[in-house]
Amino acid sequence: MKNPIGIFDSGVGGLTVFREIKRVLPQKDIIYFGDTARVPYGSKSQRTIIQYSLQNMIFLLQQRIEMLVVACNTSSAYAIDELRKQTNIPIIGVIEPGTKKALEVTCNKRIGVIGTEGTIKSESYERAIKALDKSCKVFSKATPLLVPLVEENWIDHNVTKKIIEEYLKDFLKNDIDTIIMGCTHYPVLKQVIQDVVGDSITLVDSAQSIAEELCAQYDYETKKEPAYYSFYVSDNPEKFSIIGKQILGEELHNIKKVFFTDAWVVDNYKR
Ligand code: DGL
Repeated sequence: MKNPIGIFDSGVGGLTVFREIKRVLPQKDIIYFGDTARVPYGSKSQRTIIQYSLQNMIFLLQQRIEMLVVACNTSSAYAIDELRKQTNIPIIGVIEPGTKKALEVTCNKRIGVIGTEGTIKSESYERAIKALDKSCKVFSKATPLLVPLVEENWIDHNVTKKIIEEYLKDFLKNDIDTIIMGCTHYPVLKQVIQDVVGDSITLVDSAQSIAEELCAQYDYETKKEPAYYSFYVSDNPEKFSIIGKQILGEELHNIKKVFFTDAWVVDNYKR
């Protein structure tokens, strides 16, 4: 592999980011890490999320990545500063690209954010939006059950629609015209979410925004041979392969399983 981009997420959700990066940079090698043994991250403490994120990054650095995409809103919200302290390679998270996109598309400046408990509690989107436009009103709602539904491949399922309706029924009374899907698992459910919120609301997919941001920020040399992709997961490669195929619309090759040890994590965290 030649100077690959590294991407990590807590599970399959980051494949929505992989899909978009692959689309805009088709000749770039990519290594993906999904922490399927420890998903979800969204209900865990900041300290735990930082530890997991550091572990994931160090693993990808060992694979000689040239830049890191944190394709997890929860890690982007809680751990990105810590990650940046540990390496000089560029690290791009999902919060800023999603925020910029939402500000571009909103007309009434009333923006909704849905995400994991961790992302919503961190108020990262709210801060990022206000930093760019103080006059915006931000309405946030944690929708944690959506991650396990995606990991379970319950995408086109009645129960999923009911849960989204239940989560959003009061939230939608806020006259929002834009909703940031502040979790990389959620674009997998984009159609169901759109059906529930109606066509007058624009859904912002941070995966698309991050890919655009990458294209704009980095000038990659291109190569003639087709790109090489490899996938690492911390558990259940078979399940990852099935859901991954559903998300990407094609078979995933080169999926490997990895193990971590606690001693190794603690060492790196204390550095
Ligand atoms: N896909 C991740 C995010 O964007 C993580 C969800 C989770 O693990 O709870 O936040």
